[in-house]
Amino acid sequence: MRGRSRIGVVRGLAPALGALLAGAALAAPVPERLAPCVACHGSGTSETEGVPSLGGQQADYVVTQLFQFREKQREAPPMNDVAAGFSDDDLRAYADAVATLPPPAWSGPAADPALVARAQALVSKHQCNSCHGADLTGRDAIPRIRAQREEVLAQALSAYKSNTRPGYDPAMNEVAQGLSEADIKDLAAYVARL
Ligand code: HEC
Ligand code: HEC
Repeated sequence: MRGRSRIGVVRGLAPALGALLAGAALAAPVPERLAPCVACHGSGTSETEGVPSLGGQQADYVVTQLFQFREKQREAPPMNDVAAGFSDDDLRAYADAVATLPPPAWSGPAADPALVARAQALVSKHQCNSCHGADLTGRDAIPRIRAQREEVLAQALSAYKSNTRPGYDPAMNEVAQGLSEADIKDLAAYVARL
């Protein structure tokens, strides 16, 4: 609705000015404190293999992960170094800033229908939506996974399964025990293409 009313307002203006205003409204500035983060993570959507997109991520979830990186409960050398000196107030401030970045969205060709059918059956069997939300955008301390990078999703699910990534809550470690390698591949390919 907000998008629609903005277009309604802009339509009455001279085309050049309208385009300028629409552009300004779409390109939200990256918060200054995230300057050291965007080099690796991008400004919402990551272009780098193995580095997660952070745009629109749930702030409460980001707090839990920055805490885990700082305490070395989640082992990932670049992030353990990044978070080493963070105070509790820093965790919250970075998390709130990250949540304002525009969320990632798949822009490539649509997923193969057979893949979609297999993955949706897995989502329903394991009730991914009951925690991550109907559209997989997360809520509270449960992460947005919609349109996350495919290899990041696959790596996360494998790491929960092998318990090399202990969640702040054991839910994902339990869910992942029931996933085969083929299930993980299908889920990652499907969720990345939403
Ligand atoms: C040198 C590159 C690099 C820099 C700089 C960096 N990150 Fe990361 N970040 C990573 C990588 C790689 C991962 C994935 C870690 C893994 O393998 O689990 C990650 C993971 C994360 C995650 C977990 C995301 C998820 O979906 O679980 C958060 C949150 C995060 N980074 C926030 C930040 C913030 C905030 C900053 C700036 C203060 C930052 N990062 C700077 C490389 C970087
Ligand atoms: C009972 C609630 C619950 C269910 C069901 C659940 N999840 Fe999760 N999920 C979580 C929580 C909580 C986390 C954060 C754990 C942590 O600290 O790493 C998480 C994290 C994740 C992550 C890591 C995201 C990131 O940015 O690193 C992925 C991927 C994921 N879930 C996928 C799934 C999929 C796919 C399903 C269904 C097969 C599923 N989840 C079912 C609660 C759930």
